[in-house]
Order: sequence, then C-alpha cells, then structure tokens
Amino acid sequence: MKALVLTGGSGVRLRPFTYSTPKQLMPLANKPVLDHVIAHVRALGATEVCLLTGDWADAITEAMGDGSRFDVTLTYLRQDRPLGLAHAVQSARPFLGDDDFLMYLGDNILTDDSGEAAEIVGDFRQHRPAAGLVVQHVADPRAYGVAEVDTDGSVRRLVEKPSRPRTDLAVVGLYYFTAAIHRATDAIKPSARGELEITDAVQWLIDQGEQVSARRYSGFWKDVGRADDVLHCNRRLLGELRTDVRGEIDPASELRGQVVIEAGARVVRSRIEGPAIIGPGTLIEDSRIGPGTSIGRDCVVRGTHVSDSVVLQGAHIHTSRGLRGSLVGRFATVGPGEQGDPDHHFVIGDHAQIEMTVV
Ligand code: DAU
Repeated sequence: MKALVLTGGSGVRLRPFTYSTPKQLMPLANKPVLDHVIAHVRALGATEVCLLTGDWADAITEAMGDGSRFDVTLTYLRQDRPLGLAHAVQSARPFLGDDDFLMYLGDNILTDDSGEAAEIVGDFRQHRPAAGLVVQHVADPRAYGVAEVDTDGSVRRLVEKPSRPRTDLAVVGLYYFTAAIHRATDAIKPSARGELEITDAVQWLIDQGEQVSARRYSGFWKDVGRADDVLHCNRRLLGELRTDVRGEIDPASELRGQVVIEAGARVVRSRIEGPAIIGPGTLIEDSRIGPGTSIGRDCVVRGTHVSDSVVLQGAHIHTSRGLRGSLVGRFATVGPGEQGDPDHHFVIGDHAQIEMTVV
C-alpha cells in the first residue's frame, strides 16, 4: 500500500525552533517526529511511502534516508509552495498514480497503542469508500476540519476550521483515499485563506454522491504545532520506552522507572527518574532528571534539575534553579550569572519565550 506523508508547511507556531529545523524533525523521545510517523505508517500496512517536502527538502532527506530502517521505500517529491493539503495531493500525483493510498500529516502523532487506527485502516481498505476519514471527539474543534457523521458512519458534511462547529468531531491527520480524490482536488477552488483544502475536496466527493466514511479513533492523537504539544507528545512517547541502559552510570547515581541511557552517555552522582531518555555523548552530573524528560545527544547538564522538558543536541544546562516544562534548543546554554549580580543576562533568539518566577 502507498502512503503520502506531508512535511511542508511553515511551522510558525513553533518558532524559534522552526528557523533552523522543520517541525516534522523536532525530537520526541530523542527521535524526529517523522520517525514516529513513518513507523506508524508502516504498522498501518504501507510499504511505499512518499515524503512530500517543502523548503526543508534537504534536511528531511538527510534525516530520513531511503527508508530501509523502517522497512519501507521512501520517495521524495517537492511541493513548490504550501498551497494546501489538496494541492499537496496534486503535487504527489506522479507517485500516487491511480492507486489507493493513505495520507498522513507529518506533524501528527497517533500512538495507536491498541491498534485501533490499524483496524480502521483495515476496514477502509476492505470496503474502499472514495474517502475514509478518522475522527475524534475534541473539546474545541475550531482549529480542525469538523465532520457531521450519520449513525452508519457516512459523512454528511465537512467544514474546515468553522467558527461555530456543528459537532465536536475533529478530522485526524490520517486519511484513506481512492483515485476519486484526484477528480475532487482538480475540481475545487482555493478557500478564503488561499489554500486548496482537502476538506473541500472531500466535501466535493460527498456532493457528487460518492461514499465518504468516518470512523472514530479514541487513542492518543495530537498535532505537534506548539511547544506545549511537543512536551505533551514527548511525555506520551517516553511512556512507551522500555528501560535500556547502554551508557555509564556511576555507583553514586540512581535510575528509577523507565529510563533509556543511550550508548556513550555518562551519569555521575545523579538521579534519573523515568520516563526519561539521555542521548549519546551526554554528561549528566550532580543533577536530577525527569520524569517526562528527553535530553538529546552531546549535552552537558550539571548541578541542576530538569523535569517535563525536551533538551536538544549540544545544549549546556548548569543553573541551580532547575527547569520544568521547557524546550531548550540546539547548542543553547542556560547557566548562572555572576555572583551577586541581581540581573538576568540573556541572548534570546527571535520569537523565544522566557517565563521567570519572581521569588
Ligand atoms: O491536524 C489535523 C488537521 O490538519 C485537520 O483537522 C484539518 O482538517 C487539516 O486541514 C489540517 O489542519 P492544520 O491547520 O493543522 O494543517 P497544517 O497547515 O498544519 O498542515 C498539516 C501538515 O501538512 C503539516 O505537517 C504541514 C503539511 N503541509 C501543509 C500545507 C498547507 C504541507 O505539506 N503542504 C501544505 O500545503
């Protein structure tokens, strides 16, 4: 089965990280979002996968390779500009041909612990509706495609980001399509926000009398749009890791719960409380780490505590106050000021976000 994974888009809400990396490569449990996506796409039965890239084509190609480590073949195609999800389908036509396919938004995380999504996809593959949607009840559906679904699972109506949603059923970023979708993407016009919307294409199919089905998914699903989403998904994915200690732990250190210490990491006089992962080449000294924390490769964390956080490659943290609920970028430094100096000293990147507690 073929799958189209979308990795374009601008990532505005994840600045400043997305100035130097696409959001689809943000690490969750020390692996890029796309690693989790492609592993899931494979578990859903796809073996031929097209990564549709935008501005970050080179970074994504370098990070993901030929797909052999996921047991899939990866094909790369370029979308000139992020003109909408239906435009993305048009751009991938040379790969898709007239075959049925899955479309997976490259910033969506579905952990699918119970295999529910796999069961839904299996059902779509068997019954072959023109389009199959995965939907989920959400508290505030206004940021999503919203579906009205009959009791038999037929979709009656679909609206993109309605200000007054008629149901609380949000469209999840995993779709099943037959070749009928290509007629639809060619027939629709750009929306008010200037995009060729996949929701409009699917609505076009409904209007033509084609079968569009929806199935409810109740497992974990989140799109990694903002820093909070990264932390949330990270916690969730860390919870799935099994303890695996390949680095060095000195006798004065303690590991508790599910902890991964990657090869070449060193833990000295420290406590690591799972779920947590420590990347290769990283030194943790006189510190408390976790729970809910991923420390990337080649970091130094000294004399501090870090919980519920994601720390990227090469960062140095040695502040006595500690960090919680934080995202620390590549090669960033968080440290103490000069003794007796009451002021903070920052070199802050564009769109950075600093929250300080007054004590
Ligand atoms: O997350 C689920 C939602 O995803 C659905 O409920 C909505 O119906 C659907 O339109 C989409 O909404 P978003 O506003 O979240 O889409 P976003 O612009 O963030 O794009 C989703 C992914 O697709 C993201 O990884 C970027 C990529 N993309 C986006 C566009 C517009 C492309 O590769 N090309 C594009 O042209």
